[in-house]
Parts: sequence; C-alpha cells; structure tokens
Amino acid sequence: MKDRVVLAYSGGLDTSVAIRWIIEKYDSDVITVTVDVGQGGDLKSICETAEKIGAIKHYTIDARDEFVKGYVYPAVKANALYQGKYPISTALSRPLIASKLVEVARKEGANAVAHGCTGKGNDQVRFDVTIASLAPDLKIIAPIREWGPSREEEIEYARDHDIPVLVKPGSAYSIDRNLYGRSIECGVLEDPMAEPPEEVFELTVSPEESPNRPQYLTLEFEKGIPKSLDGSEEAPVDMLNRLSEIAGRNGVGRIDHIEDRLIGIKSREVYECPAATVLVESHKDLEKCVLTRHELDFKQLVDMEWTLAAYTGLWTDPLLEDLGAFIDKTQEKVSGTVKVKLFKGNCRVVGRSSPMSLYNRELATYEVGTAFDQKIAGGFIELWGLQTKIANIVKRKMESGRDQEPV
Ligand code: ARG
Repeated sequence: MKDRVVLAYSGGLDTSVAIRWIIEKYDSDVITVTVDVGQGGDLKSICETAEKIGAIKHYTIDARDEFVKGYVYPAVKANALYQGKYPISTALSRPLIASKLVEVARKEGANAVAHGCTGKGNDQVRFDVTIASLAPDLKIIAPIREWGPSREEEIEYARDHDIPVLVKPGSAYSIDRNLYGRSIECGVLEDPMAEPPEEVFELTVSPEESPNRPQYLTLEFEKGIPKSLDGSEEAPVDMLNRLSEIAGRNGVGRIDHIEDRLIGIKSREVYECPAATVLVESHKDLEKCVLTRHELDFKQLVDMEWTLAAYTGLWTDPLLEDLGAFIDKTQEKVSGTVKVKLFKGNCRVVGRSSPMSLYNRELATYEVGTAFDQKIAGGFIELWGLQTKIANIVKRKMESGRDQEPV
C-alpha cells in the first residue's frame, strides 16, 4: 500500500496544484479534507474537483458550530483585536482545520498531513505548530512552501496536468473567509497608499451606500458570550450569520491596517469583519460595567497576550489555556444587555445594562444630597497627589538652588 497524505483542500489554485504535486513528488495517495468554517462556496463541487484531480477520497467536515463555540467565543471573551484592529478571524480557523486533518489522518492511517500555505505568512505557523502538538509523529508537507512557485507557474502546472481550476481573470486577490470575517490580500492592496477598491468587499456595503437611517441592535450576553440578538435566541452559527448580515448592510466592519506578521514581514491587510466588530465593541463595553477598574486593567494585559498567542499559532500552548482560565473567571459576571447603533460604517454602543453592573446612579449623580460623601474626597486627593506635589517642589529647588518651599 502507498503512503497516505491528508491534505487541507480549499478548492483554490494552491491546494489543487498541491494534490498532484504530492502524488508525483511523494508517490503517495492523497486524501483531501475541506473543513466548513463558514467560508461559503460549493462544497460539493469542491469534493468533485478534488477527486477529479486525483484524491483517492475526500472529506467535507462541517465544523461551523465547533468553530463558533470553541474558537470565536473565546476570542470575543478576550476582546481579541491583534494590534488593536484585527479580530484574528483567519487565525482562529487554522488550529481547528489542523485538528481535523489530524483526526482524518488517524482514521485513514496516514503518515503525513499537508497544507497549501506559503512560506511568507502566519498560516503555516498555525498549521505546523498545531499539527506538531497534536501528532508529533506525522510528517508535515507544505508543497507551496517547499516548491515556491509563482502564480503563473502554478497556472502553467495546472494546465499541464489537466487540473480543472477556475482562475478568474483579474482576480488577483488572496482571500480567506469564515463565519467571523474575511481577509483580502494581494493585487493593488499591496500598495499601502491605494484605497481598497469596492470590488474587494463582499460582506459589507460601502458606508456611502449604506442606509441613511441608523439601525439599532440589542445584544444580550451571558457569561461573556452572545445569547440573543434583538431578543431572539438562535443557534450560535445562525446568530453570527445574522449579525454579520445586519452589520455588513450598514457598512460596519471594514478594516485596513499595516500588520506585523510573526515571521517579520509588515503587510497591508484588508478585512471585513462585521459581526466581530459589533461583538467585540459591545462585549468590551459590558465588561466596563461589571468588572472593577483593577480587573479591567489587568484583563487588558491578559487579553493582549491571549490574542498574540492565538495570532502567532500557539493555540495548543498551555499559555492559552492558562490565560483562558483567568478570562473565564472574569466572564462569570459579564451578563447583560448592550444597545448598539449601526450607522454608515460606524458601530457605537449607546446603552448597556446588567444585573451585575457596578454602576451606581446614587453615587455617580451630580445632583446634591446623594449617597456619596463629598467631604472625604479632599483627604483622598491629598494622598493621591502627595508624591506629585513633592516631586515638583524638589524640581523647583534643583532649578533655583534654593530651599524655598516647605514640603
Ligand atoms: N494576515 C491575516 C492573518 O495572519 C490573514 C491571513 C490570510 N490568509 C490567507 N491564506 N489568505 O491571520
């Protein structure tokens, strides 16, 4: 029996070419796996194409529910925004896909798994580290990284080998999509000064073209995860899709920034993450209501480390679980309702309430005769500013060379 390689297959050019390349180079059988994380597309025809190209077997695995519950929700709890902007949508899907590859490899008795990542991005790191953690005995094959073809060379290889891939003329973009967002790279976007043309967007309408009336949304959270949208509870996948559609229709979720990839390259990244934008904005706001300032300050550091670990492929590192334990503990209190206003590309939180809220109107009001004893503030401020006052006195003394003020 020939060796078996389990390949993550998207139906695109890279992974289509990879099927044949592995068969030829490694003289192995190839089993393809398409993991449905909400990328859309015709999964049935992807399966047919894989077999046409030469895969001996194809798996289509619906992992959407697992993706939302096990990957998207933890990211929401961590308010994950890499470098302050990117909701790590692609990054979240990779360890899940990698774990499915390993599952299939075990079932099929394969000795290797393969992915179509290039050697220039973050995705290779996410696949390799996850696979190595879960199955250190499996060989990892990365045809595109090993071979390093240009796009033209790939198209030529496909033509020479009768590989039926649809390369749309002018589709110069590299796209990745799942339930939590969509990323667009390459082509004209490689000029960081060039505004992304309208054609790159699919999930969001241009803010200019979005409705002229604001749309209000009410999100209910329970222990840090979304529970209902405008009062209706749905399956997690459906709710995320609905939120994405509503926010996208209002032009919310377009992101354009310069990003530091793990391997050192700075890249211009364009995303549309409508649901993620609304979820993180509202979740962050609700946390401010229910956590103490001390918890919030520390959680920001934890969130940042969690996000960095998830972005850089360390999903299986114990660190993520350790930080997750802290995050989950804080989330016990993050239940309540947030009202957001979507309007022409903006998502603004305009109201929040929670049974766990630490906000106390009696204390906060500027009206007189309330629970807060204003007189105690004076003493507190004296202590709060004590060292600041002394530092300034000393500074004046050093400048003038004279002892003129009593401390
Ligand atoms: N820069 C983003 C990330 O590292 C997007 C990657 C997109 N991947 C892709 N295969 N098109 O998560």
